[in-house]
Amino acid sequence: MAKYQNLVDQLKRQIQSGIWNSGDKLPSLRKQAKHSGMSLMTVLHAYQLLESQGWIISQARSGYKVAPGLKKQEQTQVAVARTESVDINEFIFDVLQAGTNNSLVNFGFAYPCPDLYPRYHINRALSTAALNMQTSNAFNNLPPGNEQLRSIIAKRYAARGIEISLDEIVITAGALEALNLSLQACTQPGDCVVVESPTFYGALQSLQRLGLKALSVRTDPISGIDLDSLERALQTHDVKACWLMSNHQNPLGFTLSDEKKKQIVELLQRYEVSLIEDDVYSELYEGEEPVSSMKMYDQTGSVMLCSSFSKSLVAGLRIGWVVAGKRSFDIQKLQLMSTLATSAPVQMALVQYLTHRNYESHLKQLRKKLHERKNKMASFLGSLLPDNVNVVNQKGGYFLWLELPQGSDAMLIYREMLQKNVSIAPGKMFDLTEQYRHCIRLNASFELLPERIEALEILATIIIKHINGTLVHKSTNEKLK
Ligand SMILES: Cc1ncc(COP(=O)(O)O)c(C=O)c1O
Repeated sequence: MAKYQNLVDQLKRQIQSGIWNSGDKLPSLRKQAKHSGMSLMTVLHAYQLLESQGWIISQARSGYKVAPGLKKQEQTQVAVARTESVDINEFIFDVLQAGTNNSLVNFGFAYPCPDLYPRYHINRALSTAALNMQTSNAFNNLPPGNEQLRSIIAKRYAARGIEISLDEIVITAGALEALNLSLQACTQPGDCVVVESPTFYGALQSLQRLGLKALSVRTDPISGIDLDSLERALQTHDVKACWLMSNHQNPLGFTLSDEKKKQIVELLQRYEVSLIEDDVYSELYEGEEPVSSMKMYDQTGSVMLCSSFSKSLVAGLRIGWVVAGKRSFDIQKLQLMSTLATSAPVQMALVQYLTHRNYESHLKQLRKKLHERKNKMASFLGSLLPDNVNVVNQKGGYFLWLELPQGSDAMLIYREMLQKNVSIAPGKMFDLTEQYRHCIRLNASFELLPERIEALEILATIIIKHINGTLVHKSTNEKLK
């Protein structure tokens, strides 16, 4: 990341945390350059960028000030929340079960729209693999998994500038098995694990299953996990592992900057904490430049990079992997003791597809479609919803994150929508506390056909009704005081 961007992020953090308040004069360009060791031009560039984004204003002869009206970010978000044990499974299970009803218009779904997968070619690859299957294949696809498949995965990482060795890769049943095995390899029941707040509900379920304690660390919808809070968590708890998403985070959608990816790895290595990098959305970037990974900065082999083909090629085949660093052998042993191995014909089918079909061209199409569909849905929602509902639409991926005014209850909206045969993912699914109860995650990968347009109109009407109800309720309460 460019140096000026560091300074921009740092100053934004300081304004948000109340170090600089509205109207405060910022250090002069010269002073800032001296403190930060950056050149005057770099500091000027950073200040100008902050000015163009409305964070600060410049005043003739008196330098730069924090813009009027900018407030310390309300600390409704807890910086680090610790839970003795994780107990969220029942609720998540209910929501996921409700979403399996095929007659629903499903905005709560976690996978891309199935029409975006190359179903015909995948089915062909499956039948070729099945026809060519020999008894010996069962053995040479045992952990760490099919060698050709691992080699294709390693080459794809090398093309993105991420150097890994074949021996580090273990093929798994989807990313979820990779993540679970990684977690098991570096923790014991009762240990503390850092997760983002909000995070992918699968992380919370895994922690619960393994009897681990969650330390949820404040995570910003734009810049990702708060590094100061992360360091505080590491200083105050005996943390064994950290489970983070680097690209197109679920549910918020942000991608960490390269600089932040590097800082996180360095910080965790300083505290000797294992990093489980959940990177299932990395192929779904926008534009020409692929995204990087935290594994790139791993000096000690303690980053376990987990991913899969579920979001980029096909969901049902359940093929994923972990680039396991120094834990590769432990993970293979754990896999042998649990599922034994990943299905041999399915691994072979993927090799068949990846060597004979143009995966890159499929990905290009997929990215383009996701980009179009997500932007279309975001602008449609923007036209339906009032200004006090924030539609967070990040680059890449396919999730939109809706922030309703504080005090709104997305669980009520979720229940009412289910009665109308529409599913959404309420914010409560992604955190152990109640702090995202006013938020909703929506899957924007589907084409906006008339039934989806109608479902979004219903959603907007119900949201507006709830917001108005909440506000009226609040003001009545206030009058009664
Ligand atoms: C962030 C994240 N990680 C992991 C997974 C699981 O991926 P897979 O289907 O490959 O097991 C999901 C699926 O929704 C996800 O959103």
